[in-house]
Amino acid sequence: MTTPPEIVLELTDICLSFGGLKAIKNVSLTVGKRELVGLIGPNGAGKTTLFNMTTGVYCPDQGTIALSGQTISGLPPHEINRRGIARTFQNIRLWGNMTVLDNVRAALHKTARAGLWQIIAASHHHARDEDRLREYAREQLAYFDLIRFENDLAKNLPYGEQRRLEIARALATNPTVLMLDEPVAGMNTGEKVHLMELIKRLQADRRLSILLIEHDMKVVMGICERVAVLDYGEKIAEGPPEAIQKDPRVIEAYLGAPQTTAATN
Ligand SMILES: Nc1ncnc2c1ncn2[C@@H]1O[C@H](COP(=O)(O)OP(=O)(O)OP(=O)(O)O)[C@@H](O)[C@H]1O
Ligand SMILES: [Mg+2]
Repeated sequence: MTTPPEIVLELTDICLSFGGLKAIKNVSLTVGKRELVGLIGPNGAGKTTLFNMTTGVYCPDQGTIALSGQTISGLPPHEINRRGIARTFQNIRLWGNMTVLDNVRAALHKTARAGLWQIIAASHHHARDEDRLREYAREQLAYFDLIRFENDLAKNLPYGEQRRLEIARALATNPTVLMLDEPVAGMNTGEKVHLMELIKRLQADRRLSILLIEHDMKVVMGICERVAVLDYGEKIAEGPPEAIQKDPRVIEAYLGAPQTTAATN
């Protein structure tokens, strides 16, 4: 028996309604230290809504969300981000008219987390502050295999590279928890494999806890250590990927729902 990892992110008995629609019903979920948890479920199940609550876009009607034991539900998005949760979006949201390098630099500027500044200062102790930032941003781009695009406008990047840049930018704030909303949607098989490897590498190198929404079961089964399943706003199953794949309630939720494809909305 391995001991479960220390809990980093904890959602407890969360509810949210949009008018008459109960979008999230009494959902509890944890993500452990350096754990990679998958969040799956048919279209409209409430996955993105759960992300939106965790990142401060919505405040739960009921329940609490805690990061490393501190309640964060009800805080504004920038404060939750400052405390260590970063995310990407289902529909890519880059600063399209800025260069690839400036997308990461601007995110670095925005971050006020002292821990990150210490890392930058320590690794570039000879340089002026602005040069240090630039070099750190370039190192991040190199890690994501994007350095050759550094001077291109973000909007001109191929789709797969835009997805990688979005993750690079999210990580510029040096988070403890990274939340990815369908990161491989719209990618071809080669790009998916590349991104799966990158996510695993990130988890190890950056000591990240990751919560991943994904429709592609090969991706979920390939990289997640634990999977939670939402259906109509309720958590209907949770466990190791192999068990989830065979769970009759999960199979029914998927078969009973309109066909789920890699959504692009
Ligand atoms: N701002 C909002 N106002 C009203 N209803 C909303 C809002 N956001 C989400 N919903 C509704 O809440 C439900 C859950 O939506 P959500 O986007 O979280 O689903 P999802 O699991 O991410 O689906 P998908 O796989 O298609 O991305 C849906 O019925 C959706 O229409
Ligand atoms: Mg969604």
